[in-house]
Amino acid sequence: MTTEYGAGPAAGRPAPTRALSGIQPTGRFHWGNYFGAIRQYIDLQPAAAGAADEAYYFIADLHALTTVRDPARLRALVHDAAVDLVALGLDPDRAVLFVQSDVPEVTELTWLLMTVAPMGLLERCHAYKDKKTRGLPADAGLFTYPVLMSADILAYDATVVPVGEDQVQHIEVCRDLAGTFNHLYGPVFTLPQPRLVADGGRVPGTDGQKMSKSYDNTLEVFEDPAAVKKKIMRIATDSRPMDQPKDPDDDTLYALYALVADADERRAMADLYRRGGFGYGEVKKALVAAAERFFGPARARREALAADPAAIEDILAAGAARARAKARSVLDRARAACGLDRRGGPAAPARRRP
Ligand code: TRP
Repeated sequence: MTTEYGAGPAAGRPAPTRALSGIQPTGRFHWGNYFGAIRQYIDLQPAAAGAADEAYYFIADLHALTTVRDPARLRALVHDAAVDLVALGLDPDRAVLFVQSDVPEVTELTWLLMTVAPMGLLERCHAYKDKKTRGLPADAGLFTYPVLMSADILAYDATVVPVGEDQVQHIEVCRDLAGTFNHLYGPVFTLPQPRLVADGGRVPGTDGQKMSKSYDNTLEVFEDPAAVKKKIMRIATDSRPMDQPKDPDDDTLYALYALVADADERRAMADLYRRGGFGYGEVKKALVAAAERFFGPARARREALAADPAAIEDILAAGAARARAKARSVLDRARAACGLDRRGGPAAPARRRP
């Protein structure tokens, strides 16, 4: 039985926690990406309190190929995503930072998993299903997207996968495929657990809906402060008289402020809301200032990093070498388990079952 978390190749020994996540390079990161995902990756880096023992983070360029069809743009998006992540605190000395396609072992592993992936399971996955329901043509890349994602996770023996709510289904698929493979061939893969941001990671956009590029309501992490200010000043507020007390937990401005303010500022602002007698203009000004204090230092780091593109590419190359070594050993384990290793002769003994 290898269906329990932590069981698998290392059962019996205390298994190290290994965090892993992939990030699509779909343009500039916004607050939703940062507070809903990236911040967790940074918190899970080894040597941070409560962090994992190891952490692997990659830029998912193979997944991005299902939507980005312009090679120059893809190159730029991948490079910029690496600059952004390092500027935000992803530390290449503490986490392995790399580009998905630099580890071709993962695509080979994808095939092995494809052979145990039921069509029905993939048909139920939302990315494909949504396209299908809207009558749009889907390619096999989109259909098998969760299998590639499973290989991403299993190739590094990841135990914990920090993700947003929308990716939980894919992690279930990963556990399913890993379980089936282990059942057929022995304990090859470690089953991962999803890890969600504690408060649900829901970040409102400037219109109060969930922040998303497709709603055109984003505040970008590295946007020019004047542009951020303009967007914040335009956020629609309710029209109740200013002297009436307001519930901070039911207000977009407060929700945004709470993300970038410190605990004391947050408390003071919540009190102000409950007392009433303030103007939303003040809140907006406080939000603009807190946002700049929060993201300003990262923006300065980003500028320095962007001035030295070769240094970023060196970081990615070093990360790819470390990631490949790990993926190679897992892939060899998987190949041997299913009989793709004839070096010991065609009658090499069957692998021991658990
Ligand atoms: N599909 C994920 C997203 O769109 C990105 C991703 C690719 C990923 N491979 C992964 C996330 C492996 C976690 C683990 O957000």
